Amino acid sequence: MRMILVGPPGAGKGTQAARLVDTYQIPHISTGDMLRAAVNEGTELGKCADGYMQRGELVPDSLVIAMVIERIGKADCASGFMLDGFPRTRPQAEALDQALQDANVALDAVVLISVPDEFIVKRITGRRCDPDTGEIYHLEFRPPPDDIQDRVIQRKDDTEEACLARLAKYHSETAPIIPFYRDQGILREVDGNAAPTDVTARITTALQ
Ligand code: AP5
Repeated sequence: MRMILVGPPGAGKGTQAARLVDTYQIPHISTGDMLRAAVNEGTELGKCADGYMQRGELVPDSLVIAMVIERIGKADCASGFMLDGFPRTRPQAEALDQALQDANVALDAVVLISVPDEFIVKRITGRRCDPDTGEIYHLEFRPPPDDIQDRVIQRKDDTEEACLARLAKYHSETAPIIPFYRDQGILREVDGNAAPTDVTARITTALQ
């Protein structure tokens, strides 16, 4: 299964990917996680990406495309992958298409998780992440257990200001690529405004 999870910031892409990878036995490739790891490690890519990410802007296509094409060429992606947060622009979608064509493989599905804008800021500003396990929590919707309260962190770009900038970028740059996949007949649209378990069931059904 070669698939993409797409949707606005806070739609639940990371939450759903964590629930789905076991079912499909494919690696979860989150460009946001890869870029945050590069920032934490202080690599050249990380130094370049940091400012864009904190401002809620997109990291330049050339950097992200090279990072993803290299990643999906690795052995663990031979029978599939779940991309989360890529592609986010038309050039990224076209570069992915070309790379898959060159490898004589194709995407099976693009899952669009839709959540109305008015719910996004609350989801994003309430998010907390466990740096040890990568687990995603929410102060209200999925509170972290008592024994890890002290170590959960808030992402630097989870401020209201950066969230609104990310949402604007989603509408101007990412939403326009959705027809590209609808035209290929591989788009599956799922309402993400429900409990996480219900959203997982909707995605699983949409993929059947
Ligand atoms: P990235 O990390 O990809 O951020 P994003 O797309 O904005 O998505 P999020 O991770 O914020 O949200 P999510 O949909 O995964 O939601 P989650 O499951 O965590 O990218 C960060 C930055 O990196 C970008 O702004 C950009 O700068 C750069 N970047 C990354 N990829 C790039 C690319 N391809 N090109 C250029 N730049 C790139 O859930 C959110 C919260 O809601 C959590 O607290 C969760 O517990 C809660 N929640 C989840 N589901 C539900 C539910 N059903 N009900 C209630 N609460 C829920």
